[in-house]
Amino acid sequence: MDINQRTDNEQAALWNGRAGRAWVEAQQLLDRVLEPFQEPLVEAVRAGPAHRVLDVGCGTGSTTLAMARLLGAHERCIGVDISDPMIAAARTRAEREDARAGFICADAQIHDFEPAGFDLIVSRFGVMFFDNPVLAFANLRRAARDDARLRFIVWRSAAENPFMTTAERAAAPLLQNIPARRPGAPGQFSLADRHRVCAILEESGWADVDIQPLDVVCTLPEKELVGYFTRFGPLGLVLQDTDERTRTEVVDTVRRAFDPYVHGTEVRFAAACWRVDARAPSASAAPTEAAGV
Ligand SMILES: C[S@@+](CC[C@H](N)C(=O)[O-])C[C@H]1O[C@@H](n2cnc3c(N)ncnc32)[C@H](O)[C@@H]1O
Repeated sequence: MDINQRTDNEQAALWNGRAGRAWVEAQQLLDRVLEPFQEPLVEAVRAGPAHRVLDVGCGTGSTTLAMARLLGAHERCIGVDISDPMIAAARTRAEREDARAGFICADAQIHDFEPAGFDLIVSRFGVMFFDNPVLAFANLRRAARDDARLRFIVWRSAAENPFMTTAERAAAPLLQNIPARRPGAPGQFSLADRHRVCAILEESGWADVDIQPLDVVCTLPEKELVGYFTRFGPLGLVLQDTDERTRTEVVDTVRRAFDPYVHGTEVRFAAACWRVDARAPSASAAPTEAAGV
């Protein structure tokens, strides 16, 4: 990662530390869980035009590579992510597949992308972690050519996604140090409020904002469930520092709390998300301070 591009924020530390390593270790599992979200993004490439595509917060590169497979010899797909270990994993996958994809390790909020370099910008759950979302989406707007499209997927609220908070709710009576979710702060549910998403995008220079609910069923093998909740989310962050006895008790309690989601050998949960689309208006169409005066 280019040191000049690093913002010393909490999220950079998290994704370059425990969270990033957990995602790399569980890459195949997460790709299975998140697989239903890939198609709406790949579909945007198919709908075209998409000669230069940017995947923001690309992680270990699953979506970037799926899109790259559709592109021709003179087209290119770039993934950007703030996490060194995740980008390293993405590059390894790209080499293995001999894919037409490139990866940049940088903070998408401030990275100096080639101006007007992309005609499609997408993200699968990679845009909720910006500490300054308006700055970030304005930076992405500069990276987009006029009329380029933006499409990303984010989670709706925690209340609509109870599976995602099951572990921390069940473990709370046993562990006092689970980090609380802070409404509006960078994190999984930071873009749950569609009015906020719309305001952020319009303020950062995007137009024709369209926000649609995206409800899908996600699955994982039951035998992976403990590995899943002990690695991810607020519980995953603190469980590794917990003594063996408490850990065993927490794992038993939390596993029981997931029972309603277990159907034989499979875990199933409903994921409540937004599919957000926007367009980069041409400079002449963008509102100016003088407009309407
Ligand atoms: C929930 S993961 C999603 C990863 C990937 N899109 C996927 O679906 O597998 C969020 C990703 O956003 C990345 N991220 C967080 N803040 C970022 C930033 N400011 N710039 C670039 N990437 C960022 C994280 O490192 C992480 O890989």
